[in-house]
Amino acid sequence: MCLRFSLSMGKLVPRDLLTHAKGPMPLRKACGRAILWGEQRREDVGMEGFIRGLPKAELHVHIEGTLEPEMMFDLARRNNVPLRFGSVEEIRAAYEFSDLQSFLDIYYEGARVLHAEQDFFDLTFAYLQRAAGDGVRRAEIFFDPQTHTGRGIPIETVITGINRALEAGRAEFGISSGLIMCFLRHLSAESAHETLEMALPFRPLLLAVGLDSSEVGNPPEKFDAVFGWARREGLLVVAHAGEEGPPDYVWKALDVLHARRVDHGVRAEEDPDLLFRLAEERIPLTMCPLSNVKLRVFPSLAEHNLKRLLKQGLVVTINSDDPAYFGGYVGDNYVAASEALGLTRGELIVLAKNSFEAAFLRVEERRAFLAELDRYVEASG
Ligand code: ADE
Ligand code: ZN
Repeated sequence: MCLRFSLSMGKLVPRDLLTHAKGPMPLRKACGRAILWGEQRREDVGMEGFIRGLPKAELHVHIEGTLEPEMMFDLARRNNVPLRFGSVEEIRAAYEFSDLQSFLDIYYEGARVLHAEQDFFDLTFAYLQRAAGDGVRRAEIFFDPQTHTGRGIPIETVITGINRALEAGRAEFGISSGLIMCFLRHLSAESAHETLEMALPFRPLLLAVGLDSSEVGNPPEKFDAVFGWARREGLLVVAHAGEEGPPDYVWKALDVLHARRVDHGVRAEEDPDLLFRLAEERIPLTMCPLSNVKLRVFPSLAEHNLKRLLKQGLVVTINSDDPAYFGGYVGDNYVAASEALGLTRGELIVLAKNSFEAAFLRVEERRAFLAELDRYVEASG
C-alpha cells in the first residue's frame, strides 16, 4: 500500500486526513522507492510528495484571492448577493485573463459576497486548512480593507473575522501567521490614510502594510506619506512592484517606501544594478509563478525567471498570490515550477529556506522552522 504523508502541526500525518483543493495526489507520482523516515520505514512519496511535505512559509497570498467558486456561491446565497454566473463551472470558465487589470475586475466583483465576520473567518480558515496540507508552517496573509470598507463593511468585521481564523489555524494546524494590510494603489493616497486611521485600533493584530492592485500608473511614491506613518507605528513594509511595472517602481518601493520584501519583482531582471542591490542586501522577492502565467507576465512557466534569479543568488521565494483564480495553491506552484524549470531537490530546499529567511519572524521561531526543515530533508533521504 502506498501511504501519503504531510506535515501537520509539526507531525507527519496521512495526507488523506487533510483536505486539499485537488484531492489526493496521483498514485503514479506519490509512490516510489521505500525510504527510512525517522524510526519507521515508509514509502517514498516521490518528488511531489517531498515538495508538499517540505516545511515552508507562504508570504504572498491575498485572502480575497482564496475565494473558491463554491464558497462564492454559498456566500452569495447566505448574504443575498446576486451573481452574474449561474454555476461554479461558469465562474471557472470566466477565469481567463489578459493582464492584471482583467483579473482585478473579476476579483473585486467576487469579493462582494463577503459581508459578515463569519464570512471572513470561513474564507481564512479554508485557506489555512489547505495550506496545512501543503506543508505551510508560517503564513503572512494580505487583505484589502478598502475592497470591503468601500461597500460599507466595517474594518473591524474584516480584521476580527480573519484574526479569529488565524488563531484557530494556530490551534488546529500549528500554523504561525501574520496579517498584512494592503492599500489599493488605484485609489487615492487620502483613502489609504483614512484606511490606516481606521485600522489603528487593531494595530496589535497587524504585522505589516503592503501595496497592491493596478500597478502601472500608480507608482510607490504616490503613497510615500502613508507608508511613513505606518513605519512610525512600527508596521513593517512590503510592496508589489515589478509585476507589470518597470524596475524603477522596485527602486522606489525600496528607497521611498522602505519595503523589506518585494512582491513579484520579476521585472527587476531588466536592471542589472537593481539585481545587484537585491542580491547584496538579500531583499526577498515573493514570486508567484502560476499567477505570472495566468496574467501573461510570462508566456509560459518554462520561460519564468525564477530559476535564473535564484541561481544569481537572489532570495527568491515561491507563493500562490490568488490561488482560487490562478489554478493552484502554494504546493501546486512549487510542483509546477519544479516540473517546468527542472528545479533540483537542492534548489527546492533553498526556496523553502528562503521562505523562512524572508518571513517576519523572531529569531527563535525562524531557527525552529529551519531546524524542522533540516530534519525533514534528512529524514527524506
Ligand atoms: N491583488 C490581488 N492580486 C494581485 C496581484 N497579483 N497584483 C496586484 N494586486 C493584486
Ligand atoms: Zn499579489
